Amino acid sequence: MTRYYLLRSALGALASAGLVTAAACGDSRETVTAAAATGAGTVSADDHVQADWRVTLAPLPYAFDALEPVIDAETMQLHHSRHHQAYVNGLNGALEARPDLQGVALEDILAQVSRLPEAFRNHGGGHWNHDFFWNSMTAPGTGGAPSEALASAIDQAFGSLDAMKEAFNRAGGGQFGSGWAWLIVNDAGELEITATPNQDNPLMDVADTRGQPILGNDVWEHAYYVQYRNRRADYLAAWWDVVDWAAASARYAEAMAD
Ligand SMILES: [Fe+2]
Repeated sequence: MTRYYLLRSALGALASAGLVTAAACGDSRETVTAAAATGAGTVSADDHVQADWRVTLAPLPYAFDALEPVIDAETMQLHHSRHHQAYVNGLNGALEARPDLQGVALEDILAQVSRLPEAFRNHGGGHWNHDFFWNSMTAPGTGGAPSEALASAIDQAFGSLDAMKEAFNRAGGGQFGSGWAWLIVNDAGELEITATPNQDNPLMDVADTRGQPILGNDVWEHAYYVQYRNRRADYLAAWWDVVDWAAASARYAEAMAD
């Protein structure tokens, strides 16, 4: 996951500079031309490109309107290009002052965030959470179903998929103010639902319940207010229609393999 994250970040930087196609920042294995800047011919998305220590805003893995009618295009555009970009900028500002952390995997930074300046918690968390969030969703009706292993674990932990969704929605609805609801694999290797305030997440050493996130939903008002106004419960209920169960199932398999 870390290697993939670094690759996407590096490719995102090249894409922002117009050096590679946005498609290369997703799962595409196409070879793209970077000769204009480097004179080095071509760079493959399979290469472990390390352009810079700065984190970058990767393009969304789908169009702004791809999640309609569950999440409208205006919300997605503002959320990605304004809010997520602000976290990217804030994290880069924090890294500027800490050369010892430049190039360190974000997950490793978050695991020690209690000992770092507050900006790493707020902006480092904001960047990780949103990258995770964009890659947890897909067009309505295309998200499939949990893998056999994940479905079995959900049944064991919660009784049924619907019961898990209800518990998740209660966690998101009960999070006072801004924050996130999570489905995680906890340190005991069991599925658990938790919520975190602000831009905290279960990877942080400040989290009440730590674990490996499988799904996370953003319950900041900026995630839903344009379309749903103050009806957070409606947003939480509708969100399941855009959940990418293939992504969640892959994360579950990876967490259980650790
Ligand atoms: Fe957000």
